[in-house]
Amino acid sequence: MCGIVGYIGSREAQEILLDCLKRLEYRGYDSAGVAIVSDGEIDVQKSVGEISVLESQIKKISGGAGIAHTRWATHGRPTTENAHPFISCDGKYAVVHNGIITNYMDLRERLIEGGHRFTSDTDSEILAHLIEDAEGEDLFAKVVKALDKVEGAYALAAIDGGAEEIVVARNESPLVIGIGHDENFVASDVTALLRYTNEVLYLHDREVARVQADSVEIYDLEGNHVERGTQKVSWNLEDAERSGYPHFMLKEIFEQPQAVHESLLGRLGSLEEDPFFSENAFSSVKIVGCGTSYHAGLVGKYIIEELSKLPTTVQISSEYRYSSLSEEKPLVVIITQSGETADTLAAAREASRRGCRTLAITNVLGSAITREADTVIYTRAGPEIGVAATKTFVTQLIALYLLGLRLASSRRSISSERRRQIITDMRALPRAIQDVLNNADAIESLTTRSAKSQSIFFIGRHINFPTALEGALKTKEISYIHGEGYPAGELKHGPLALLSTETPVVAICVRDHTYEKMLGNVREVTARGAPVLAIGTEGDRDLEKYAEDVFLVPHVDPLFTPIPIIVVLQLYAYYIAKKRGCPIDKPRNIAKTVTVE
Ligand code: F6R
Repeated sequence: MCGIVGYIGSREAQEILLDCLKRLEYRGYDSAGVAIVSDGEIDVQKSVGEISVLESQIKKISGGAGIAHTRWATHGRPTTENAHPFISCDGKYAVVHNGIITNYMDLRERLIEGGHRFTSDTDSEILAHLIEDAEGEDLFAKVVKALDKVEGAYALAAIDGGAEEIVVARNESPLVIGIGHDENFVASDVTALLRYTNEVLYLHDREVARVQADSVEIYDLEGNHVERGTQKVSWNLEDAERSGYPHFMLKEIFEQPQAVHESLLGRLGSLEEDPFFSENAFSSVKIVGCGTSYHAGLVGKYIIEELSKLPTTVQISSEYRYSSLSEEKPLVVIITQSGETADTLAAAREASRRGCRTLAITNVLGSAITREADTVIYTRAGPEIGVAATKTFVTQLIALYLLGLRLASSRRSISSERRRQIITDMRALPRAIQDVLNNADAIESLTTRSAKSQSIFFIGRHINFPTALEGALKTKEISYIHGEGYPAGELKHGPLALLSTETPVVAICVRDHTYEKMLGNVREVTARGAPVLAIGTEGDRDLEKYAEDVFLVPHVDPLFTPIPIIVVLQLYAYYIAKKRGCPIDKPRNIAKTVTVE
């Protein structure tokens, strides 16, 4: 959504803030700003566009305390006036904010009646004016009083001219405090801080912290002191940098063998040990998620049903609340790489309210979902910076295979021979992915025609129908070409009307029980003149007879085919977007973490 950072210590805050801000740019990039305390005054500089624009225009201001923001507009257009930080009328307080203040219209009217002048159309600006008006002997007390009046979601950081402290608060938007030596940091996401520290404190909902150069104190909004130990983050700076790749997305696609390896490490031998499963018996599973995580859930349905025989349904997080209540209590599996997606957090709360046990699959240690869910499977993909999810999707699938196996163990629903085979096959997955990556150039050469098209169809059956959906999502979000994923058998019920010689179709034709039917669907498509790229299994010489282009992936058990196939589709989308000159890591209008409903 938006990204916030803060620094307090003896170094020049401006330099550090700009550096941290660049690492948060994936959260928003329509405008940016920095506030530095210098000689008792707050200097605010902002600009429209990416952080590089702000950096090229900024006047150097010396000072050891400051806050900064990169914005993704929700209230008010992306203009300099609407960029953060916001400053109070008396110039004494500055605030940056991520989230949405739902009662801001009321508050704004009241503040205007009280004589405050607003310079922006945003909901966030009210925070600076509320803090100015609030009673309290210091900034901390004033922020707490101001928050009394505020409804909605926020991660905020505030400073005053005293430069003694940064005050931060969180409710439903992520915020992490980085611990240094005689200096401390604040950010929406730990990846912003990895150059400076990997020791962090996560703020929880409805908490507020006083961050000084040599101390951090956390309180809840009722004023109770909160004791919390720091956590060491295992990610390092290299994990969060491009390491020579032209885009984070490509780097993250190439990191997938390692990400899968890490996600399996030490887990295949210890599937029996989680007490969560022995203490809870489930008669069904419900999976919720948004976007790519929802697609992982759709693949998860096939995995869980095949392995555990438990009926599994999948729902988009924002729709879950509208589903009718049933008597039985499914295990609710919540998939969110960031752990902070507002729609998904709301679904998790709704599931708990309905009395369901919840299991989260997430990539971010300490994220909000880890506190909402009863138990968590971490995906260990490392930080994902590119807006398009790649390695987190693949590792979500790994988590779902592990979950399926775990449920199968407690229900004795597969033979020990099948179980052993699955475990052996899972260990071989990093190699299968690497084989696809080794042929990335061949995939690139298959994108020349597609890059010029206006619309691309992706078709598959059974477990690879959701793979087709995910391929379409990747293509549309980063290349701006209309991509449509379809169950292959469904094309003839309408969408065939859209096909022509100008509409490439990517058909997933792996050698499993769907193969013959897929060939039939490919024939339907080629009969309409549409060029087909068939993705098949190595050794398949027949596909060339049916499709104009063919790409073959290593043979894996049918249950695992989505993994090598999605790597092909990620690269396909990537190279199309590259040929079209699109800003791959930061596609227009979308942000990595969506903290509004
Ligand atoms: C697409 C993409 C989004 C996210 C969705 C959910 O590439 O990244 O569709 O999958 O916004 O995000 P998380 O998984 O963080 O809940």
